[in-house]
Amino acid sequence: MQRRKFLYALGTIPIASALGKVENKIKNISNKIRSENKMAKFELPKLPYSYDALEPYIDKMTMEIHYTKHHNGYVTNLNKAVEGTDMEGKTLEQLFATISKAPVAVRNNGGGHWNHSLFWTLMKKGGGGKPAGKLAEAVNSAFGSFDDFKSKFSTAAATRFGSGWAWLVAQNGKLLVTSTPNQDNPLMDIAEVKGTPILGLDVWEHAYYLKYQNKRPEYIENWWNVVNWDKVSELFSKT
Ligand SMILES: [Fe+2]
Repeated sequence: MQRRKFLYALGTIPIASALGKVENKIKNISNKIRSENKMAKFELPKLPYSYDALEPYIDKMTMEIHYTKHHNGYVTNLNKAVEGTDMEGKTLEQLFATISKAPVAVRNNGGGHWNHSLFWTLMKKGGGGKPAGKLAEAVNSAFGSFDDFKSKFSTAAATRFGSGWAWLVAQNGKLLVTSTPNQDNPLMDIAEVKGTPILGLDVWEHAYYLKYQNKRPEYIENWWNVVNWDKVSELFSKT
């Protein structure tokens, strides 16, 4: 009996070693597959115009630094913040819905990435003027007139203490003006006024200081000359 056990044990050594080798091979293959299917990372979107396109209202150097340093920084830091966590692979909108439970780096850099990605598209060379069609009707109905809306939005932008954003949001078919601190936005669960942003203005000093220094109201007044109302209308039509 003892001898049989001994022989059996001898026989299992090569089997165990072969099994170990197969196991390692399977592990290597599955690691390779995992690394090849790595979660898509957040990426800096292409700027839809040249750095000098919004001159003289937004200067070339501000635009270049804003896009290549600030926005790019948010993207890099967001990827670092979600890497290896269960947040990896989620969309920003999914993350914003429960952002109060997320680390502050995800809130700041996720907001920074989303807000700037939208902001670039809301401006264009030869923009400005007034909204038309259904958006114009909705603006008049919510605020009385375009000028009243403009004044309310500009005040929200000018009076946002420190860094932040002014927003025009659609909320259950209504239009509202609001503002958020830092890189927060109205899609986040922590926002005082929630809704779908259709227009946003960055009032961080990095958005205007080189040209306007401390004159934030002048930056705001000039910014109306580059607003891409076609894009705002398009966003409104999807709400
Ligand atoms: Fe910014």
